[in-house]
Amino acid sequence: MTTDPLLQPYQLKHLTLKNRIMTTSHEPAYAEDGLPKDRYRAYHVERAKGGVAMTMTAGSALVSRDSPPAFNNILAWKDEVVPWMAKLAEDCHGYGCAVMIQLTHLGWRTGWNKGDWLPSVAPSGLREPAHRAFPKALEDWDIARIIADYADAAARMQAAGLDGIELEAYGHLMDAFWSPRQNALDAPWNGDLAARMTFSLDVLRAIRDRVGPEFIVGIRYTADDLAPNGISTEDGLEIGRILKDSGTVDFFNVIRGRVETDAALTDVIPVQGMRSAPHLDFAGRIRAELGLPTFHAARIPDVATARHAVAEGLLDMVGMTRAHIAEPHIVKKIMAGQEDEIRPCVGATYCLDRIYQGGEALCIHNPSTGRELTEPHDIKPAPVAKKVVIAGAGPAGLEAARVAALRGHDVTVFEAAPDPGGQLRLTAQSPRRREMIGIIDWRMAQCAAHDVAFRFNTFAEAQDIAVLNPDVAIIATGGLPDTEVLEEGNDLVVSTWDILAGDVAPGSRVLIFDDAGDPPALQAAEIVANAGGHVEIMTPDRAFAPEVMGMNLVPYMRALQDKDARFTVTYRLMAVRRAGNELCAVIGTDYSDHREERMFDQVVVNHGTRPLDELYFDLKPRSRNRGAVDYEALIAGEPQPSFEGGEGDFLLYRIGDAVSARNTHAAIYDALRLVSRI
Ligand SMILES: Cc1cc2nc3c(=O)[nH]c(=O)nc-3n(C[C@H](O)[C@H](O)[C@H](O)COP(=O)(O)O)c2cc1C
Ligand code: SF4
Repeated sequence: MTTDPLLQPYQLKHLTLKNRIMTTSHEPAYAEDGLPKDRYRAYHVERAKGGVAMTMTAGSALVSRDSPPAFNNILAWKDEVVPWMAKLAEDCHGYGCAVMIQLTHLGWRTGWNKGDWLPSVAPSGLREPAHRAFPKALEDWDIARIIADYADAAARMQAAGLDGIELEAYGHLMDAFWSPRQNALDAPWNGDLAARMTFSLDVLRAIRDRVGPEFIVGIRYTADDLAPNGISTEDGLEIGRILKDSGTVDFFNVIRGRVETDAALTDVIPVQGMRSAPHLDFAGRIRAELGLPTFHAARIPDVATARHAVAEGLLDMVGMTRAHIAEPHIVKKIMAGQEDEIRPCVGATYCLDRIYQGGEALCIHNPSTGRELTEPHDIKPAPVAKKVVIAGAGPAGLEAARVAALRGHDVTVFEAAPDPGGQLRLTAQSPRRREMIGIIDWRMAQCAAHDVAFRFNTFAEAQDIAVLNPDVAIIATGGLPDTEVLEEGNDLVVSTWDILAGDVAPGSRVLIFDDAGDPPALQAAEIVANAGGHVEIMTPDRAFAPEVMGMNLVPYMRALQDKDARFTVTYRLMAVRRAGNELCAVIGTDYSDHREERMFDQVVVNHGTRPLDELYFDLKPRSRNRGAVDYEALIAGEPQPSFEGGEGDFLLYRIGDAVSARNTHAAIYDALRLVSRI
């Protein structure tokens, strides 16, 4: 019998949860036609296999048609959802994992130009800044219809065999009724707090009428939205009491904060560099004062903090949501005494940002997540052990080494630098982004455990590789900053890497020309601004930092906005000339022939990287495949052609930024899908 507090069962009414770890509702946006089909199910089943006690599926599954799917949500108003949810629940139950779903009406937090193009609705016309719709103020017939929709959706989930449901009440329709700031309706929907709870209680009673007293119904609610004229902690406690006394609610899932802006959302779902478990004690207070089963998640990324939360009686169930996006087998590894094998969530929040950027949640360093059907999380041994030589120990090279070693190959890695990490090592020099080194450290530990040989401080030449007689050579040498983008004066500018690495001291009047739109420009700007310099970040795009999505932008803005930093959009740096001790920047635009000259003492260019591909091209003539990748096989998840009997000594592949400037996920995915078939 284990005494680990995290591994103790928890009794929620008639439901025994086998341990204290759950994933809270999170919409990965994998729905097809609004339904949780095979990809969606495989994602949850993987976590069930990994031992999590409960998965709160969906994120904001929609009860009504006038709650358009803002982020490819599950459409709980469709009858067809029942068989798909039933299959998902059945498969997860097969691994002893309980399954619930979060239901909601998004209210103001959606757009009108999705789904059925119905106007969004809210208890006032107040616009939600994030989704930008101007909602229609609810009429009586809307309210009656939506209450019935909630009850219908709950009944569908019960019919699908789910263990329960959770209503979402932070930043959506339900809590908008509670907030004096957002509710402009008349009685009976508005008035004192009890009146503002009328809608929620009507919904809950309608649900109970349909699902009966036994079915588990909880609510994920903001017990303090931290907004002026919003929901205070006292209100939050009172709301909790009213809900509990109504006898309709079985658990609370506690939120503190609100989500209507990127900045506010980031405080509810903190990203890397922000405090760990910032609302845990608050959730513990709600549990202590209200005495209902209490769940909570907000950046509890590691097992030690989760254990503390349960051991100290702060929570009944601890949510480790992003932690499971990065590592689906957390519980299994805890039980096997392999906590140090857990792939760490580094808080990059690519997962959440990616929903808006690319329409699906992906983990920055676990490319199997969301791709369970094609890229299994467990690496299978290869039928034949091979000699694999890799050049480069950045994220792509290390992933290639990890996967090759797990497949049983004999692996040697060359790295020119004294330490592994490549560009990520540079990124991790920013104090706020230090956790990124976890991507490297975890892979180094995995490589060490599987006997990968490393040769650091070794700039591999073609002969160094060839002499090892590899079966497969993989070039993952990354890239170097490309600053050759000007008509004149390329030699007068420095790169963002120069600033990040500390090779060049930040100037006092600095122009950062950001033609890539990715984090290094903002990181460099932060260094300049922190050093007391004036910094102007200029981009020819129509918005600055287009590759940095909402959640990740917030810490940069917080760091820059009270400093001497300015953003200029739609202007392009054309040339730089020396002018005495200063630099004259010639600035143009894509929209006209306009040109102007401005003076700076430092010009920094952020324009991605140029592949470091010399080694690849030196090796190419000696290889059997001449470096060719069979894309059809790659995409289909099949091995690359062997070119058996062809001329040449080995198969040669190039991955990551050594091919072209992309991001960390792309580099690691390149490595995984190639090497897991070698
Ligand atoms: C990709 C993604 C989508 C999410 N969608 C929802 C959602 O629809 N509803 C919700 O209540 N929370 C949503 N969340 C928030 C999570 O439930 C959780 O509160 C948050 O990730 C903080 O917990 P963690 O630090 O353990 O990840 C989402 C989180 C992620 C990463
Ligand atoms: S993308 Fe980052 S925050 Fe999201 S799960 Fe992966 S490591 Fe964690």
